[in-house]
Amino acid sequence: MASTPDLQLLLADDDTAIRELLARGFRHEFRLLIACDGTEAIEALRQSRPDAILVDEMMPGATGTEVLRAARELMPEVPRLLMTASQDPTAAMRAVNHGEIHRFYTKPLKVLEVRRAIRELVERARAEQVLRAELLALRESQAATTAATTTVGLLCEGPMGDAIERAALRRSFLVRRTTRIETFESIIGAGGVDVVVIDAAVGAATLAEVAQLARRVDVGTSLILVEQQQDHLATCAQAFQLGAVDCLVAPLPDELLLSVRLERAAGRPRERAELRRVTWELVSTNRELALANRRVEEGQVKLLGGLVRALEARDPYTAGHTDRVAEISVRCAEAFGLSTARREVVRIGALLHDIGKIGIRDEVLYKPGKLTPEEFEVIKTHTTIGARILDDIESLACVVPIVRGHHERPDGRGYPDGLDLSALPLEVRIVSGADVLDAITSTRPYRQASGIDEAFTILGTLAGGQLDAEVVAALQGLHAAGRLAGLLQHGP
Ligand SMILES: [Fe+2]
Ligand SMILES: [Fe+2]
Repeated sequence: MASTPDLQLLLADDDTAIRELLARGFRHEFRLLIACDGTEAIEALRQSRPDAILVDEMMPGATGTEVLRAARELMPEVPRLLMTASQDPTAAMRAVNHGEIHRFYTKPLKVLEVRRAIRELVERARAEQVLRAELLALRESQAATTAATTTVGLLCEGPMGDAIERAALRRSFLVRRTTRIETFESIIGAGGVDVVVIDAAVGAATLAEVAQLARRVDVGTSLILVEQQQDHLATCAQAFQLGAVDCLVAPLPDELLLSVRLERAAGRPRERAELRRVTWELVSTNRELALANRRVEEGQVKLLGGLVRALEARDPYTAGHTDRVAEISVRCAEAFGLSTARREVVRIGALLHDIGKIGIRDEVLYKPGKLTPEEFEVIKTHTTIGARILDDIESLACVVPIVRGHHERPDGRGYPDGLDLSALPLEVRIVSGADVLDAITSTRPYRQASGIDEAFTILGTLAGGQLDAEVVAALQGLHAAGRLAGLLQHGP
């Protein structure tokens, strides 16, 4: 028995036919909460909390955008998707601009694509929620410890120094103050200083020297420069260039504001560390999501490959055909020096090249004798059926040309599109060559397999007509080098 899907999807559309169609497409993957108009959808949101929301824009009661606006208020983290009629994207664009939706689709919907997008959005929303909770916990623990542990190193004379000291004490910060640069260096050297407040005119030091002094504590320490001359903005600008986080210029702000600025400066290094941590976690979460996606894609290839093998296993004459075609194709791709990525496309394309046979009637597919012209027309459709099956799977789009085109011929007399050499990618020509070679060396109900040497003679006669001459030459080269040994000649 199938297990109950773990995610709940709110699906709203006022068109009964579309609603039922979508429900059929989504119900295996999601528990569905169905609404027939906008009012029902909003009511459903008040009653329960789905994992994702997919609504039509044009509905009586409330538009899709209005429903999603309500959803954003009630449950901001839940992914919101909008469907619109393709003639009018205005509503969707407006919704995108107002941050009301995560995705929008024009009808008719590609159900597979939308299903995957929903899964991704839900996973991302969950990962973000975990991160947010962690951040909150971290902030709370910091707030509890900041006051007790913050130390301000203060090198500043006169009333401005006094005012800054009072402001620091107001926040219960520890203050270590001096007016002599030598003493200050030893204060810093002792460690534990979170904020360094230095008078820009202290001793005969330049601003750059002062900044260096502050950074000696550690790179994360915040530096506040004090400029005792009135409105000396040039010093401020220079201080910021040197990495100061704040600059206090006479006349000073009142004590309360001053204490807030000290506190903010003290929080800076922690914020940076926190930011680094969060960034790192986001990067690793993204990597995990990418890995998960890849696993899903590999799973799809395995599943489809398994289907083709199951189909072949029912017929002793074709058993093992696709595995051999895949192996021969990959070796041929290597001989052409194709990149790893292109070799992978060849391998998957070869594994799935006959997937469309799933759609062919058994009595034609497994007919023991020669096919009639009508039956051959039926067999030919396995190319277009296969392409249609894979068209719905985004990650397999790159192998569709192989599946559709593996019976095309360089002389333009192949099917289904009658393409010629100039329109056939090398990947397609390689799989065609491997397919034909395996067919000639396999026994079929209506003829015996050819011997290997005879097979290569036949292959040679097909070069430039049914098969690409370069591919035939590459296959002959592989055979001569003994690299196809053990792969050819298979009877029932
Ligand atoms: Fe085929
Ligand atoms: Fe085939």
